[in-house]
Amino acid sequence: MSGRPFLQIPGPTNVPERVLRAMDRAVIDHRGPEFGQLVQGLLPDVAKIFKSERGKVVLYPSSGTGAWEAALVNTLAPGDRILAFNYGHFSAQFAEAARNLGFDVELVPLSWRRGLAGEQVAERLRGNRGQPFKAVLVVHNETSTGAVSDVKAIRAAIDAGHHEALLIVDTVSSLASIDYRMDEWGADLTLTGSQKGLMLPPGMALLCAGPRAIAAGERGGSPRNFFDWRPILKDNAAGFFPYTPATLLLFGLREALDMLFEEGLEHVFTRHTRLAEAVRKAVGAWELEILCEDQGAYSNSLTAVMMPDGLDSAEVIRIARERFGLDLGVGLSQIKGRVFRIGHLGALNELEVLATLGGVEMALREAGVPITLGSGVAAAQESFFGDASRALAGVPVEQPIAAR
Ligand SMILES: Cc1ncc(COP(=O)(O)O)c(C=O)c1O
Repeated sequence: MSGRPFLQIPGPTNVPERVLRAMDRAVIDHRGPEFGQLVQGLLPDVAKIFKSERGKVVLYPSSGTGAWEAALVNTLAPGDRILAFNYGHFSAQFAEAARNLGFDVELVPLSWRRGLAGEQVAERLRGNRGQPFKAVLVVHNETSTGAVSDVKAIRAAIDAGHHEALLIVDTVSSLASIDYRMDEWGADLTLTGSQKGLMLPPGMALLCAGPRAIAAGERGGSPRNFFDWRPILKDNAAGFFPYTPATLLLFGLREALDMLFEEGLEHVFTRHTRLAEAVRKAVGAWELEILCEDQGAYSNSLTAVMMPDGLDSAEVIRIARERFGLDLGVGLSQIKGRVFRIGHLGALNELEVLATLGGVEMALREAGVPITLGSGVAAAQESFFGDASRALAGVPVEQPIAAR
């Protein structure tokens, strides 16, 4: 298919030209001085994206799933009790990973149409009769449902009960797209992957470990080798790794961080808010339902759209891909066939969102969903013209948009 591919799944996201060009270069010696300088410059800048001054950044050639494992085996010992909540595919899978590694996981079933609230954590901690929990696992932005959880309130719930549990937060689909404040909100350990808000290809896991997580790793943890962050932190001090790093991805990371800082992290978040709001307006115009039923928890990196009864989202996704070269996210596990997901994160602008919505409309129509063509696109355009969107973009409300 000619023209630009529309990869509008909720990650991996489109990799910007600048990042591609930065990686299109000769591999260098990962034990030489140029590499050491690159890494020494990168690590403190990655910490800024996590909004952490206290935390230490650890990078692995791995995916987000590896980041889960790294977080768990460095801080917890087999048999340790972990509290986790099932409010989507990834929160359930994170808990499953912990179970597979030999931890004693209590998984609390919750609605898949909301984020995790502080009160739900408080309630479970109050009711605990067994051994104290050593960690609470949270997915900040549930990529399968498009609902965000209140990490600050969850920390407050843990503290209110005088619990020692480490707060481990997955920000795979929120970091660098949705505001996240590791130090201020009190997370002990945060993890992410390269392929979403960071605008890189898949292949890198990034962690930021706060002082309590580092201390837990020194005292104990599980048997570990590749994921042991102690030798990594030691070698990183001089800009090196105890293994062969993903050299070219690190050059890409340098470029992606430069792009985020040039735009300004807060502007990156408001851009995501504007784009997400326009997509939600489009869904409203189609008279379809958003899976997340708590407006305060709407995700700004993706929207999961519910299908009318009797229609399968796989058909919409198939048509979008085959006819228009537009990739949309599928419904995962228990909501397979019931939703499709529009990814609106990473390197993305207003026109790309409008094109995506135009493609979704045609695929919906073709799949037999009774929508009015153009209705969602027009609603999104109105949203971009609206005062709220213009205020977020820093355009004076009285100034015509043409004068931008
Ligand atoms: C919230 C969340 N956590 C973890 C993962 C797993 O990451 P990966 O597929 O990179 O292993 C994903 C993947 O999409 C995710 O969205």
